[in-house]
Amino acid sequence: MLNLCTIGTSQITRSFIEAAEMVDDVHVAGVYSRDSSKAKELAEAYNIANTYTDMDAMLADKRLNTVYIASPNVLHFEQVMACLKKQKHVICEKPIFTNITEFHAAYEEADRQGVYLFEAMRNLHTPNFWQLKNALELIGKVRSVYFQRMRYSSKYDRFLEGDLPNVFSRQMGGGALRDLGVYPLSLTVALFGEPELSYYHALQLNSGVDGSGTMLLDFAGFKGTIMCSKISTSYNASEIHGERGTLIIDDVAPIKKITFIRNQGKEPIDLFLDEELPNMSYQIQNFKSIIECGCRETYTYYRNISEQVVSIIDRHGN
Ligand SMILES: NC(=O)c1ccc[n+]([C@@H]2O[C@H](COP(=O)([O-])OP(=O)(O)OC[C@H]3O[C@@H](n4cnc5c(N)ncnc54)[C@H](OP(=O)(O)O)[C@@H]3O)[C@@H](O)[C@H]2O)c1
Repeated sequence: MLNLCTIGTSQITRSFIEAAEMVDDVHVAGVYSRDSSKAKELAEAYNIANTYTDMDAMLADKRLNTVYIASPNVLHFEQVMACLKKQKHVICEKPIFTNITEFHAAYEEADRQGVYLFEAMRNLHTPNFWQLKNALELIGKVRSVYFQRMRYSSKYDRFLEGDLPNVFSRQMGGGALRDLGVYPLSLTVALFGEPELSYYHALQLNSGVDGSGTMLLDFAGFKGTIMCSKISTSYNASEIHGERGTLIIDDVAPIKKITFIRNQGKEPIDLFLDEELPNMSYQIQNFKSIIECGCRETYTYYRNISEQVVSIIDRHGN
């Protein structure tokens, strides 16, 4: 049984709580906020028993065994380490860390304490992620990949008015690559492993973060292109091009539609599954079963993806 407490009270925490409610043996038992009224409001909205404004008091509560962290990126390391030191499992929002030194220190601490640390990369745990991975064999030798996540952010309106939302703040670890680029990047790494080389060509905003950018990735035998943006929107699909055909996906996070078009024939074939749960529920299910069965192999699979992604964004982040 996971007895969870959340950190952060923005929309993503609400989505996480709703997703957790749909998973057996996962119970959101507490809410932490710096602000007691925000904690109470969130707890009341979801009928959650406990609220905390003191992180130490929350971490001292022995009824809780897991913490979900959805705070600005720059706070992840300090909060993750505090939770691990109190032997709580941790589910931390993407990007789990923005530098590889923090990544290694935190995973070593998790191992030392005998608990698990997960990055909430919600697109890599769904049935359609596995459908896509299995479909790669249909397209023959992969020759190029184009994945994108470009969404105009409503917070950009505030930025243009002179405000500095965390996601556009250099000090808070913001920027397009860290916020949205990690979805196509993690999907690329999950499907094809670590690229031999990466280059990032970014459009910098005056706050010192990338508002958008294009990443080029070198793999043996093919090239990858990743586009991300917080200041404009793309309606393109993402694609994997092979010598025998093409796989088209509607979105990188979550993947809802997968279509295969053979070079000979050209008839589109749908390969996607209709998923029953919200994509965040699948990751929670997966984390719970890794904890319960002690599945180190699956744990290491996801840890390696996170490590490679963090090491790339560490090289190219703001
Ligand atoms: N998986 C997804 O689909 C998804 C979607 C959006 C965001 N995210 C990730 O979730 C994380 C949070 O993103 P967000 O856009 O929700 O961030 P945010 O709104 O800037 O902050 C999230 C929460 O962190 C706390 N916080 C804000 N500023 C703080 C500060 N200066 N010091 C301490 N605490 C602070 C606030 O909670 P209190 O005021 O209650 O303490 C706030 O509700 C990021 O890592 C982001 O990448 C993931």
